[in-house]
Amino acid sequence: MATVFISYASADEGVARGLKAFLDGEGVSTYFAPAHARSGQFVAALANEVMKARVVIVVASAATTDQTWVDEELTFARTHHKEIIPIVVGDYASIPAWLSFIIGPLQRYYYDSKSEQPFQRIGEALRLLKNRGRVISVLNMKGGVGKTILTANLSTAVHARDDLSTLLVDFDPQHNLTQLFFSLVRKEEFWEKKLSVASLLAEEDHAFPTEFPSLLSVSSGAASFELIPGTDQLLEFTLGLQDPIALERAKAAFKQRLGALRDRYRLILIDLNPAATFLTRCALESSDHVIVPVRPEQFSGVGLNLLAKLINYQRKSGFVPDMPGGFTTILNGVGDNQVAVADAGLDDRVRQNIAESLTLGRTLCPISLPKNRFLRATATSIPLNPLGVTAWYRPHSPTTLKELLYNAGRFAFDRAGVLHAP
Ligand SMILES: Nc1ncnc2c1ncn2[C@@H]1O[C@H](COP(=O)(O)OP(=O)(O)O)[C@@H](O)[C@H]1O
Ligand SMILES: [Mg+2]
Repeated sequence: MATVFISYASADEGVARGLKAFLDGEGVSTYFAPAHARSGQFVAALANEVMKARVVIVVASAATTDQTWVDEELTFARTHHKEIIPIVVGDYASIPAWLSFIIGPLQRYYYDSKSEQPFQRIGEALRLLKNRGRVISVLNMKGGVGKTILTANLSTAVHARDDLSTLLVDFDPQHNLTQLFFSLVRKEEFWEKKLSVASLLAEEDHAFPTEFPSLLSVSSGAASFELIPGTDQLLEFTLGLQDPIALERAKAAFKQRLGALRDRYRLILIDLNPAATFLTRCALESSDHVIVPVRPEQFSGVGLNLLAKLINYQRKSGFVPDMPGGFTTILNGVGDNQVAVADAGLDDRVRQNIAESLTLGRTLCPISLPKNRFLRATATSIPLNPLGVTAWYRPHSPTTLKELLYNAGRFAFDRAGVLHAP
């Protein structure tokens, strides 16, 4: 998958080719369409490549008069919230007005034809971007499919082995994730100190906490592993009681704060409510990737259809991560003996349904998670420490639950571009 899309006008093809050669040398994958290939139907293919890219670098010069191509590519990049890095050739003041309007607010880099390494600073900018954390939402309109249990367990398993700095965000008014990790008393202490996800939506900046409760007790990792506690205060946002302007402001605050948190954590995982609400929109518009847990059951298809509708609707109104790279569907709760008695082929049938789904067809994680008593939340204990799980999930299986959780988590996180180092 191309991670950098190079947008340029034909007059600047030489500079664009030089940039491509430089990025090739840096091991950065690029998408570069030769100028002579740009014609007619090609624009749809270009749009597709922009979608797949993480960053769009635009070569901007006085000669950027191929407004159709560059403008189209940049408009597409902006609609899909791609990072845009302008590299200016020559005098900035001579760049056409339509282009300086787009790149004006962005950090600019200059092409110095006399320098031996004219793209060096672009390389540094890309390295900084690459180091920023990734945001993943865990989403399904259905309740009880394992959103919360997988948020907790996939992150714990991966944190324990890869020692990845991780932040969990309990963005469900029911705040089960918080209750998995903390007692009622601790939870109320957090609320008294105004330490909750509500602060992500708050208008005043001073209300935003600088530190969050640590979860290091459930992982053997050393890198930070923290949770922004949930709160039932979020309920008012799901009911849409605020006026639209206040909601937009809250959403903007949420996106901006999550963006800043990317500098502190490699992985930010958001556990969502089982519905399409304002909270769902906030999370989707801030995410690079979406994990969709699916339980093998008779009506799981209905949940998936609803989800497909939401994705399409969201795509029309704004941003949603790309398909299929932007989604990972994980089948959770397979090999249930009780179900097998009544309906032996259910797991495979649901797998097949997902594979045939137009929207989610190619998103299925090859590792399914078993129905397992270690993944069942109980009222009295934190059931989540995968390191404590030594039981074989099936008597003769060579893979422990811990490894399955790690592998499924790593599969989804890799797709999202989460780095392996702390
Ligand atoms: N693979 C599994 N094996 C056993 N129990 C599970 C499994 N996945 C989820 N559960 C249990 O099912 C219930 C619902 O899971 P949860 O993660 O809370 O769903 P959601 O967040 O989607 O509503 C919880 O009690 C959880 O412990
Ligand atoms: Mg939940």
